Amino acid sequence: MPCLSASARRRHTKMRSLIFLGFLAAAIQVNAQQGFLSIDCGMEGDSSYNDTATGIVYVPDAKYIDSGSNHKISKTYMDATTPAQAETLRSFPDGDRNCYTIDGINQGEKYLIRALFFHGNYDGVTPVAFDLHLGVNTWQRVNITEPTVSPRVEILTVAQQDYFSVCLVNIGSGTPFISALEVRRIDVADVYKDDVNQSDSLVLVGRLNMGAAAAAKKIIRYPDDAYDRKWESFSSPPQWSEINSSQPIQRSPGDAFQVPAAVMATAVTPKDNTSLQFYLPSEAGAIRPVYYIYMHFADFDPLSQTETRRFDVYVNGQLKGSSVKPEYLLSTHLNITSELGTAIRYDFSLNSTSGSTLPPILNAVEVHTTLTLPDTATDKDDVDAMMKLKDMYKMTTWQGDPCSPEKYRWSEVSCTISASEPPRISSLNLSSHRLSGSIPTVLGKLTAIKSLDLSYNEFTGSIPNFLASMLSLSMLNLSHNQLSGSISAALHDRKQNGSLDLETDGNPRLCPYGATCNFVEEKKSKKFATPVIVVIVIIGAVLVVLLIVLSVYLAKRRQQSTRRSQAPKSPLKLDELKAMEDKPVGVDSHQFTYEELKNITNNFVRVLGKGGFGTVYYGRLPADGTEVAVKISSRYAAAAEATTWSSTSQTSDSMMDGTKEFLAEACHSILVCDGDF
Ligand SMILES: *[C@@H]1O[C@H](CO)[C@@H](O)[C@H](O)[C@H]1NC(C)=O
Ligand SMILES: *[C@@H]1O[C@H](CO)[C@@H](O)[C@H](O)[C@H]1NC(C)=O
Ligand SMILES: *[C@@H]1O[C@H](CO)[C@@H](O)[C@H](O)[C@H]1NC(C)=O
Ligand SMILES: *[C@@H]1O[C@H](CO)[C@@H](O)[C@H](O)[C@H]1NC(C)=O
Ligand SMILES: *[C@@H]1O[C@H](CO)[C@@H](O)[C@H](O)[C@H]1NC(C)=O
Ligand SMILES: *[C@@H]1O[C@H](CO)[C@@H](O)[C@H](O)[C@H]1NC(C)=O
Ligand SMILES: *[C@@H]1O[C@H](CO)[C@@H](O)[C@H](O)[C@H]1NC(C)=O
Ligand SMILES: *[C@@H]1O[C@H](CO)[C@@H](O)[C@H](O)[C@H]1NC(C)=O
Ligand SMILES: *[C@@H]1O[C@H](CO)[C@@H](O)[C@H](O)[C@H]1NC(C)=O
Ligand SMILES: *[C@@H]1O[C@H](CO)[C@@H](O)[C@H](O)[C@H]1NC(C)=O
Repeated sequence: MPCLSASARRRHTKMRSLIFLGFLAAAIQVNAQQGFLSIDCGMEGDSSYNDTATGIVYVPDAKYIDSGSNHKISKTYMDATTPAQAETLRSFPDGDRNCYTIDGINQGEKYLIRALFFHGNYDGVTPVAFDLHLGVNTWQRVNITEPTVSPRVEILTVAQQDYFSVCLVNIGSGTPFISALEVRRIDVADVYKDDVNQSDSLVLVGRLNMGAAAAAKKIIRYPDDAYDRKWESFSSPPQWSEINSSQPIQRSPGDAFQVPAAVMATAVTPKDNTSLQFYLPSEAGAIRPVYYIYMHFADFDPLSQTETRRFDVYVNGQLKGSSVKPEYLLSTHLNITSELGTAIRYDFSLNSTSGSTLPPILNAVEVHTTLTLPDTATDKDDVDAMMKLKDMYKMTTWQGDPCSPEKYRWSEVSCTISASEPPRISSLNLSSHRLSGSIPTVLGKLTAIKSLDLSYNEFTGSIPNFLASMLSLSMLNLSHNQLSGSISAALHDRKQNGSLDLETDGNPRLCPYGATCNFVEEKKSKKFATPVIVVIVIIGAVLVVLLIVLSVYLAKRRQQSTRRSQAPKSPLKLDELKAMEDKPVGVDSHQFTYEELKNITNNFVRVLGKGGFGTVYYGRLPADGTEVAVKISSRYAAAAEATTWSSTSQTSDSMMDGTKEFLAEACHSILVCDGDF
């Protein structure tokens, strides 16, 4: 169930201005944490909130995704330490791949992306496992064995596009879900400068704050950490001492790591004064077993002449830091890169050097594995065009990248894949998708498309000129729509010389190339040449005179039969209404479908006049807002009213005040919607 269903939206239109204000306020608050986007998944409503624990503003996720259903966690699975974001989640029972699309990203800059999963037994089914994709590449597997474990996954990456797409992929081991999604721009800091680049990202294994367990088992993050990295406290074994500094730990100028002072202020040392040993399990299914480890140190003791603190750092038995000497009250760092090899865990050993009088000390450590993102996303212009179509036609099955990976390619497209270039859309088949309106110009942005099938829809209007200039196009199927106008010379030429297979059968109002057709076009006055306008105005004037004469005549006739007209109308049967829905209603000047008329007249809400001849409604053309009078014969008007709930469509036999004046003004734009005027 989506956050806010279409019908719920409709019912709440009066709330729109309020909701808008809510968003505005949210935007301003979000700006207070520059470069942060914090999404609370599965949250109902439109308003954001300020998380009291962190002061970070979280927004609902409906804006970033159009699939999945919302759930709440039972209170029995939450305690005082459960973050507010864990209370709701969005789950994805349908579709193999469901994606959040986060735009407004600066391409080429560095970001931290983090996701939180708190199951809380919302569907009674654990274990559950699914894959997480960043764009078209696998990020990591999320494997939740118990309802109360809440894994967090994090990646440091360079934005390949001006958006991120974070996808949950069903691997057949339960329903994917997500509780929170956080994006932080960290480029400004130049942190992890050399280790994260266009091709390599870092996936977090652990970011540990040492020596803080005794004080409070809490996570240090924003605002202590400007980039909202989460430092989790590591439980010290009994053979360690937890120590802390009452004096602040400084950073040297240009210290890119910016480890929070609160993290640096605690540390561990071994009680036996010789060796600190611990290990971290490596991520199961680590994608590439090359790791990056950053260790952070600061000495809390002002060393006397006779004292020294020096130690060697080993990872899995290999010497990675020799004779490390932390500075007094100053952050000192050690970068370690290596391959994990066949090891299944990271074994750390900090051993005093032989001359050292003081034991090793460790304040914090970060462990990452590298992840290469080998696959490239589909061509940006193609993606932009497809995303517009997705929005326009509410294609909720279109998730993530249109072409890649091949397994999750959108079923309506096919793609050209090459080793050196990003994938391109080579065909689009939207046949029988009940699409209406004019043929969208955004299709022209698909510059590598060869085959475009728009057949068996309800497209109206003329065939746009851009289609003829899409040179890659070799098949265009427009058959069985409601297109009008005539086939242009350019399209005709391309069909004639064989460069385009053009299908246009089944468009009753479409004129062949070269033929003179007298169908009056849909109103587009600005584009008409002057003589055409004159002709239309004359026709319109004649029509309006006729209309007035008729209405006067009919009004008189009506007066004679008031009783009959007040008799209740026989209600239209539901089947009749249904049958009308899709049928074009009129034939005189242009064929309008019932849906179009409903749109033009805003659901037949304002009646200008009414009589035996039918009903005249006030309307506006969606294309340019031109005011029009819409006349609908009695039979159809009855149907229109039957579907209108509004009380404003009360019937009245006489024309309303000002209606005649309006009709005189609107004389050139009357849409006549019956055949027996
Ligand atoms: C969130 O609330 C805290 C205190 O409750 C306040 O200090 C902080 O400025 C607020 N943050 C925003 C972005 O409004
Ligand atoms: C999830 O983890 C459990 C326990 O470690 C393991 O047995 C299971 O195979 C994993 N599931 C998947 C799909 O990787
Ligand atoms: C360690 O990494 C930081 C951040 O990437 C970098 O600024 C620093 O130069 C590196 N230090 C060494 C010794 O490689
Ligand atoms: C990214 O960094 C890795 C590891 O430092 C290096 O091997 C690779 O060549 C770099 N790639 C680019 C595009 O700079
Ligand atoms: C610092 O150490 C003292 C004693 O060594 C302890 O009582 C205190 O709780 C510690 N503070 C923190 C913040 O770890
Ligand atoms: C460790 O060193 C401290 C002083 O630096 C000393 O008091 C303590 O006895 C030593 N512990 C062991 C086990 O050697
Ligand atoms: C580090 O010290 C521990 C304990 O003294 C010892 O078992 C281990 O072998 C040492 N590691 C190395 C690489 O020397
Ligand atoms: C488009 O899909 C329809 C089925 O939905 C199929 O009949 C038609 O052949 C397809 N068009 C092309 C060009 O393949
Ligand atoms: C549209 O025309 C093409 C080319 O003739 C054809 O392959 C395709 O099947 C047609 N689409 C449908 C839905 O019939
Ligand atoms: C067919 O006609 C079009 C438009 O005149 C032209 O651009 C195209 O090159 C021609 N193709 C062939 C194969 O002659």
